[in-house]
This record gives sequence, structure tokens and C-alpha cells, in this order.
Amino acid sequence: MNSLAQRRRHRLAAPTLVLLTIALIGVLYAAVGNVATAAADGTANTTANSEQIEAGKQLFAEGCSSCHGLGAQGGPEAPTLIGVGAAAVNFQVSTGRMPLATPQAQAPVKPIIYTDEEIAQLAAFVGSLSPGPAIPTPEMFAYEDADLAEGGELFRTNCSQCHNFTGSGGALSNGAYAPDLTKATPQQIFEAMITGPENMPVFSNDTLTVENKQAIIKYIQHMDEMPSYGGWGLGSLGPVTEGLFIWVIGIGAMVGAAIWIGAKVR
Ligand code: HEC
Ligand code: HEC
Repeated sequence: MNSLAQRRRHRLAAPTLVLLTIALIGVLYAAVGNVATAAADGTANTTANSEQIEAGKQLFAEGCSSCHGLGAQGGPEAPTLIGVGAAAVNFQVSTGRMPLATPQAQAPVKPIIYTDEEIAQLAAFVGSLSPGPAIPTPEMFAYEDADLAEGGELFRTNCSQCHNFTGSGGALSNGAYAPDLTKATPQQIFEAMITGPENMPVFSNDTLTVENKQAIIKYIQHMDEMPSYGGWGLGSLGPVTEGLFIWVIGIGAMVGAAIWIGAKVR
């Protein structure tokens, strides 16, 4: 009995050992791989950064410091940029919001005056001042494989109260407005969520995971192609109008149809 059990253990020992070794090699390989890519990313960033930061500092002094201060500490006309992160700069400048022309309720979207390279330099400079949301990598906003239905659900719970159910935007209080989303790029949508411009809340990656964000981006990208519900667009005037419309006309039409069918059947 004892020896049988022992022999069993021995017979199983060899394959188990092989499996364990393979697993261990796998784990080690993955770990080493990760370290290698992390190091590669890190060095790439730091070598590019010191030049970028210097160039960005110069551009900032010329184009932004009149409002934000030479050290981006803020001024009477503009908030501090310490801690807003490279993502906020990339978002604000790549949508043409910054540099602001004249102080007003909300920075309008304008033609972009900086090249992509200059935007990266400005972002690197502000990002170097203090930790803040970094510019998302292309994998982070690659939305093609995301779940469209989940995106719709998340959009309706998190975004539609300001941006409307069709993403066409709407007025907020104090002269502010939530803009039309259909012109924003996937990167800008991601950046808007992690930086929360103006009245928009910040949706950190804890609140909405990267996959959640990709699903939302996919949903926004598909908005142009979506049919408008109920035949007429109504210009998507908002939940109140649409709700009223459904009540008055929609239910009226259903009652009418029911009566008509009833009459036909008889
Ligand atoms: C005329 C003044 C003015 C100039 C010039 C200006 N800004 Fe601004 N900036 C503002 C004001 C006011 C706000 C806050 C209102 C807003 O976000 O719409 C702001 C907001 C920002 C924000 C958002 C901060 C946050 O909390 O998310 C960033 C980033 C920014 N500016 C970057 C820049 C950069 C980079 C430049 C230069 C290319 C620049 N700004 C030039 C006035 C200015
Ligand atoms: C409380 C209202 C509010 C909510 C909720 C909100 N936003 Fe916004 N959003 C705004 C405002 C206001 C702006 C314009 C900010 C500015 O111009 O500085 C904005 C701007 C944007 C932009 C920039 C569009 C452009 O013009 O380039 C995007 C993209 C965006 N929001 C996406 C989202 C997404 C996605 C969600 C949900 C996860 C969301 N927002 C939730 C108010 C809101």
C-alpha cells in the first residue's frame, strides 16, 4: 500500500516537475520581457524628453506664459498648470483651445497654431513640472476591439447628461456648453476623460477602466452612423423634449394603431 502510493508519487513527479519548470520559465520570460520593454520605453522617453522639455519651455515662455506665468504657476487670468499633466496640454492645444485669445467663459475650439512636434514639446515641458496624466499611448485608445454595446451603456450613464444622447452637445449653466463630440479624435476623447476640461469631471482609470474608455470611444465613433430613433431627428433637443414627444405623439400613435387594428380585426 505504502510502496504503491510512493510509486504513484514518483510516476507523477517527473511530469509535474516538467510542467513546473515550463511554467517557471514562462513566468521568468514574461517578467524579463516586461522589464526589457519598460526599460526601452523609459530610455526612449528620457532621451527625447530633455530636448523636448527645453524646446517646450521656450515655446511656453513665448506663447503661454503671459497668462499662465513663466513657471506655469498660473496668474490672474489663468489657472496653474502644475499637475495638469502632459495629456491636458496635448488636449487643449491639439483642439485649438489653447492658447486662449481672450479670456471668456470657456475656451473655444479654434484652428491649431502649433505643429504636432511643438505640441509634444509644450506637453513635455508642463509634464516635467509635476506628475500628472501622461499622454495616452496609441494602444490605450485603440478602440476597434472594444464592446460597442457596453460603450453605449457607459456613455448614457456618464456622458449623455451633458453631451446629449447623440453626442451633439448642449448648453450648461454660466455660458458654458458641452461640445459636439463627433469631431474629437479617439486620443482627444481619451484625454478629455482623464483631464476633465472646464466643467467636465475627471474620469480616472479607476472610475472608468481603459477598456471602458475604449468602449465609449467606439460608441462615439459610431454615432455618425447611428440611425436617429423615431423617424424624425428632432435635432436631439434633449431628454425633456424627446420624452414629451414620445408621450404625446408616440403614445397617441400607439393608441391610434391599436384602435385601427381592433377595427380591422372586427
Ligand atoms: C489669454 C490667456 C491664456 C493663454 C495665452 C494661454 N492660456 Fe491656457 N488657459 C487660460 C485659461 C483662462 C484657462 C482656463 C479656462 C479653460 O480651461 O477653458 C486655461 C486652461 C489651460 C489648460 C487646462 C488646465 C486644466 O486644468 O486642465 C491648459 C493645459 C492650458 N491652458 C495650456 C496652455 C498652453 C500650453 C498655452 C500656450 C500654448 C496656453 N494655455 C495659453 C488662459 C490662457
Ligand atoms: C458635467 C458635464 C459633462 C460630463 C458629465 C461630461 N462632459 Fe465632456 N465636456 C464637458 C464640457 C463643459 C466640455 C468642454 C470643455 C472645454 O471646452 O474646455 C467637454 C468636452 C469634452 C470633449 C472635447 C470635445 C472637443 O470639442 O474636442 C470630449 C471628447 C468629451 N467632453 C467627452 C466626454 C465623455 C466621453 C464623457 C463621459 C465619460 C463626458 N465628456 C462627460 C462637460 C461634460
